[in-house]
Amino acid sequence: MPQPPRSDAFVFFGATGDLAYKKIFPALQALIARKQLDVPIIGVAKAGWKVDDLRERARASLEEYGGGVDEAAFAKLVELLRYVDGDYNDRATFDALRQQLTGAKRPIHYLAIPPDLFPVVIKHLGDSGCTAGARLIVEKPFGRNLASAKALSETIQTVFDEADVFRIDHYLGKETVQNLVVFRFANTFLEPIWNRNYVENVQITMAEKFGVQGRGAFYEEAGAIRDVVQNHLMQVVGFLAMEPPATTYHESIRDELVKVFRQVKPLSAPDLVRGQFRGYRDEPGVAADSNVETYAALRLEVDSWRWTGVPFFIRAGKCLPVTATEVRVELKRPPVSKFAAGDENYLRLRLTPELNIALGASIKKPGEAMVGELNELSLVHHETGDEIGAYERLLGDAMEGDATLFARQDAVEAAWEIVDPVLDAQAPVSPYEPGSWGPKDAARLTADVGGWADPKAS
Ligand code: BG6
Repeated sequence: MPQPPRSDAFVFFGATGDLAYKKIFPALQALIARKQLDVPIIGVAKAGWKVDDLRERARASLEEYGGGVDEAAFAKLVELLRYVDGDYNDRATFDALRQQLTGAKRPIHYLAIPPDLFPVVIKHLGDSGCTAGARLIVEKPFGRNLASAKALSETIQTVFDEADVFRIDHYLGKETVQNLVVFRFANTFLEPIWNRNYVENVQITMAEKFGVQGRGAFYEEAGAIRDVVQNHLMQVVGFLAMEPPATTYHESIRDELVKVFRQVKPLSAPDLVRGQFRGYRDEPGVAADSNVETYAALRLEVDSWRWTGVPFFIRAGKCLPVTATEVRVELKRPPVSKFAAGDENYLRLRLTPELNIALGASIKKPGEAMVGELNELSLVHHETGDEIGAYERLLGDAMEGDATLFARQDAVEAAWEIVDPVLDAQAPVSPYEPGSWGPKDAARLTADVGGWADPKAS
């Protein structure tokens, strides 16, 4: 394939907002430091600011979230940064942007703004001529359900070609998540056991110790299923369950992911337990009688030749005892249990906050008895400094036109199809105490496989 042209201007809407502050400025500094970004960077927002205010905001962002200010890279960022202040409903804002884009043939527009603003921004971008040769980056959530995801895509496609659209699911930008594909397909010993003949069940837990961190109003619209299950955790399921991608064409990983999603049966009410931590209803922006889940546990089936009959359990929650995302693949027990320690073999793949791959295996317990005890053979990734942050990776890839690590619309829709039937569940959420492992009734989902395996603190 010929190399697509690199973007020659980077525009970000929502320049004064939270996402820019926490993720975009740090990623821009990192890209500049790696000498991968040397084009105009144009922030757009409505704040009554001047470019100097945005520079100060960038500095504060880097101090707080960028691992500190790299003075050389920051000086370059200041030189590249421009600012357009104006209302997204006002065509004049986009005419001013068009001016700033003079000479750019392949700009990229990043919509770091609430999704309800997408239609008006996309329309004005098109009408003002800012979209000639342009790419688009959008952030999850991609809609609120299947129908709105389709509508959003139609809006985008009135102006942009699908090949120029980059949908960020930042889990795909994580080194540890990408490693699932490498670990699976670069190791001969794994393939013979990675199937229904040897795997008993798969558990994926995304635990967060913190609550909604002031994002109550956002969370009221989302809930755990929309916020992290339909996207981040389904990508993890996809990488765990997919068939080996062909290496000969560039869409092969995304093709395999969508095949997995299409093989997952849509959820029904008994597959799901929803919980809400006590105190959530007192958060700013949260309704006093909110029935939104801050915790979801569910059981999925991947109805494929490889996986039929193997339950995949997913759990995600706020205010749990630890912050960690972990996959546990439990293998079937050996047919002779005389030596067993009582625990089966398993693979534990820790994805956050650090990479750790551990194989649970029994060895003889010292002493007279011929019995095993469980140990872990553990591979820990020690930071080398070569790690690339998720946003840095994704923004760099989007500017290069490499869509491999972005959600594709057919996969987004297939993932919505899985959760759609349970999104508007009317059953009351089960309360749980902050710092606990969620509502007690989640235990029923895993009762027949020996319960949930809880990740430990780092
Ligand atoms: C975001 C969710 O997409 O992912 C948050 O909106 C969640 O609720 C976050 O906390 C987790 O991402 P990470 O990279 O911090 O594990």
